Amino acid sequence: MNIIDLRSDTVTLPTKEMMDAIQNAKLGDDVLEDDFVVKKLEDETAKLSGKDAALFVPSGTMGNLISIMVHCPRGSEVILGDKSHTFKYEAGGISALGGIHSAQLSNNSDGTIDIDKIKTSIREDNVHFPKTACISLENSHNLCNGSPINIEYLSQVYNIAQENNLKVHTDGARIFNSAVALNLELKELTTYTDSITFCLSKGLSAPIGSMVCGTKEFIYHARRTRKILGGGMRQVGILASAGLISISKMTNQLKTDHLHLSQLANGLSQIKKIEINPTNYKTNILYFSIKNNPFSDEEFIQHMEKQGIRFFALSKNKFRLVTHSGISDKDIHFTLNVFNNILN
Ligand SMILES: Cc1ncc(COP(=O)(O)O)c(C=O)c1O
Repeated sequence: MNIIDLRSDTVTLPTKEMMDAIQNAKLGDDVLEDDFVVKKLEDETAKLSGKDAALFVPSGTMGNLISIMVHCPRGSEVILGDKSHTFKYEAGGISALGGIHSAQLSNNSDGTIDIDKIKTSIREDNVHFPKTACISLENSHNLCNGSPINIEYLSQVYNIAQENNLKVHTDGARIFNSAVALNLELKELTTYTDSITFCLSKGLSAPIGSMVCGTKEFIYHARRTRKILGGGMRQVGILASAGLISISKMTNQLKTDHLHLSQLANGLSQIKKIEINPTNYKTNILYFSIKNNPFSDEEFIQHMEKQGIRFFALSKNKFRLVTHSGISDKDIHFTLNVFNNILN
């Protein structure tokens, strides 16, 4: 049976063009800095992001870890959201490996953190406190409805950071989704951050890999930190060749993914048993709950999978659907029919 996989945009497969590029890539040793496909990807990414330099890393998790480790000396503190991916889903790496303390401030449903909360959580210079070194934001915000974070808010946070001699890092795993939703260039969304990580392996369909961008000096330290973490890769032009296609061609796909998501959200909102506010969803991620669900979460997921629809429950009665290049108009139609049949 054909499965419509709405678990995540990480399930996207490389395109035919990517597979051809992988096959034909001219390889070198990237730890010795002579894999020119990787160099090209890093140069193109730096240009696109408006930053001086970029680094290819194996995953978004490692990109965030490297960035925060570079900004935050051991024993210092990073301010981040309590629903951020870095806090919830990166295995506590910043603390386990970086020795970095975190101040977890509550995220609003649009992924922002109240500006006043950020201001008051910056530590004064006192021997009892860790030193605040960095503010980390997530854009788009996965757990907060896939919300894109707008420039006005980003500039406010950046100004606070500048006034207090702090760095700003952005977990932009899906920054291109935000750029598309806000109708902005990537460069505009990276103006107010010192560093950014984004993923090639999600909506942009590359098999593996993420990019970290920042100043030349930041990337110099990031490269060393990547080595420390075991993330130096040798003939990795194989992957970078797919990444070049991600950044040059696959961003066009995201508009369609967002359209599919809004069709899903609107369709689900017509089903009485489903709780969802379709206006909350601006990118490729939505969440919904079920009123008086006759099934347990697990039963419901299994039941839907038997009908050909696969997705996750992220917490009790909080289900998530994610659209991506593997999902067609027909799949959206079929998915809504199945939900209707099962819940009506
Ligand atoms: C917002 C966000 N940041 C970071 C990551 C980590 O990316 P990776 O799975 O490549 O480590 C993810 C993964 O889903 C994510 O959703």
